[in-house]
Amino acid sequence: MTGHLRLGVNIDHVATIRNARGGVHPDPARAAVLATEAGADGVTLHLREDRRHIRDGDLDRIREVTHLPINMEMAATEEMLEIALRFKPETAMFVPEKRAELTTEGGLDAVRQHNHLSDYVRRLQDNGSRVSFFIEPDPVQLIAASRMGADITEFHTGRYVELVQAGEGELAGAELARITECAAQAVELGIEPQAGHGLTFDTVTPIAAIPELTELNIGHFLMGEAIFVGLNKAVSEMKRLMQAARAESTE
Ligand code: PXP
Repeated sequence: MTGHLRLGVNIDHVATIRNARGGVHPDPARAAVLATEAGADGVTLHLREDRRHIRDGDLDRIREVTHLPINMEMAATEEMLEIALRFKPETAMFVPEKRAELTTEGGLDAVRQHNHLSDYVRRLQDNGSRVSFFIEPDPVQLIAASRMGADITEFHTGRYVELVQAGEGELAGAELARITECAAQAVELGIEPQAGHGLTFDTVTPIAAIPELTELNIGHFLMGEAIFVGLNKAVSEMKRLMQAARAESTE
């Protein structure tokens, strides 16, 4: 599994800005259109329990404006399960969710959620969605996700990014090695490995170079960059960096 690396653009923070004032501007559906035009390979959104960014009414509007696959991040709750069963995202991704957090802080503790989640996974898969778990790059979590039937695991890159940005080169290297090893192990388990969280132009290259990864999900940095250069340029440049890294690593 060393082919094309896809970019899933997370549009949550367009909705964050909209919600800061109420009303309808800026519209996350418009961001989905622009991301599609700029060469994104997927649209990611997180319908949080507190609806702090994406809201229920956004789902169908976003579905209407893009042909791209939608990756719906969700907490493992009965309410979110019902919404996902109705909305039928191409991918339903289980993420941990705490109301007080600013963003998804850590990976899902797949080990502790076994009974509860296995049933949700099966119901989503029977309904036509692939199921992803957002987890730390930790073999114990990966094996738990595999036992529960995950099709995909997205490895949390937040710690790697923080270490790079703190100038902790050695620790960042160790974290990169953990992500690399988990990506290879996922493939052995028959799981599609993806990665994301916190990635920027300056940190994406070593992650994109991991040959087994099939997709990176990136949001906050792209939306921030879009303020200065526009969403089209921000998405195109991220894809260019990803493809250059992948081309070099698989030469
Ligand atoms: N993957 C998951 C599971 C996330 O929750 C998020 C943030 O919503 C991302 C990727 C994207 O992270 P960022 O917005 O920092 O690029």
